[in-house]
Amino acid sequence: MTKRVLTGIKPTGVPHLGNYVGAIRPALRRATDPEHAFFFIADYHALNQVQDPALFNEYSYVVAATWLACGLDPAVCSFYRQSDIRETFELTTILSAFTPKGWMNKAHAYKAAVDTNREAGESDDAGVNMGLFTYPMLMAADILVFRSEIVPVGKDQVQHVEIARDIALRLNRDVGTDVLTLPDYELPSDAEAIPGLDGRKMSKSYNNTIPLFATAKEWKKGISSIKTDSSGRDEPKVAEGSAVYEIYAALATGADAAAMKASLEAGGMGWGDAKAELLGLIETEFTGRTETYDDLMAHPERIDEILEAGATRVRPLAESLMEDLRRAIGRGGSVRRSR
Ligand code: ADP
Ligand code: TRP
Repeated sequence: MTKRVLTGIKPTGVPHLGNYVGAIRPALRRATDPEHAFFFIADYHALNQVQDPALFNEYSYVVAATWLACGLDPAVCSFYRQSDIRETFELTTILSAFTPKGWMNKAHAYKAAVDTNREAGESDDAGVNMGLFTYPMLMAADILVFRSEIVPVGKDQVQHVEIARDIALRLNRDVGTDVLTLPDYELPSDAEAIPGLDGRKMSKSYNNTIPLFATAKEWKKGISSIKTDSSGRDEPKVAEGSAVYEIYAALATGADAAAMKASLEAGGMGWGDAKAELLGLIETEFTGRTETYDDLMAHPERIDEILEAGATRVRPLAESLMEDLRRAIGRGGSVRRSR
């Protein structure tokens, strides 16, 4: 039987090539039909970080348009906004009653905030809002409200899916029925992060990204600034581990990547030549998508329409889970009061 796959995308910035390779492309490969592939914009997760209303609004559109321009087809998956599924928030409240506080203390985003505060000599919880603290509970609700079975995520989110599973196990045990479906995480087969312009992991936090949608001139400017060693054209080079090659290999066919690797290693291909090939590949892959993206961003009402249709389609499933769950915890059924 086909399993239900679900993943959320937190709209906290403008997606880059790393997001495409590590999250968007593997997720889209899982899109088979709207019953079994669920993708959503996790806007209320982003709210913990992005509290400027205009920016908060903007990022949801940016991320939705990105996924659509990268090929998300609403006919073969369900695509919606988290905030449109109100059942998620009732579920979060119920889950909170079954979740030991200690599990939240151990969640890595919160722990990282505490560590940073300690290093800076601040109090543990400085700058930490309750949304960040209970982040894994809202994520568990996203997953459990649709009885999801497989959750594709990056490495950094594995712990959150495990927490969702643990919460489901705990609630099922405590109420005595398997009302919640236990989810499993799934890592992309190539879980290595691609490097950015400076050789570190490509990340918006490092300001070293290649944008997905840009002009040829903008891409060229970025790509020419990729760090390389100073070896000349004819010298043999180490391809693996070099940012130019690793980014190229993540996008190119296996045969093209192998050809570049061989040319770099043999000598005769300079870093400038490799960069030109990378630029050509990005232009081929993303110029048309940039047009689609710009067009969608000029018509946000089209994005709304797609997301609203998605929410309308999946909402009955969330309602059905909540009916079962309310009954399981002793609410919402027609149980007679015993004397
Ligand atoms: P960023 O590091 O830019 O803040 P996020 O943490 O928001 O990116 O990541 C969103 C998704 O994109 C995650 O699934 C993550 O694994 C993936 N991702 C981010 N950067 C990369 C990268 N450099 N290579 C591969 N995947 C990445
Ligand atoms: N926390 C995820 C991230 O930061 C986004 C997310 C929210 C998510 N809810 C989810 C991912 C449910 C998978 C399933 O990337």
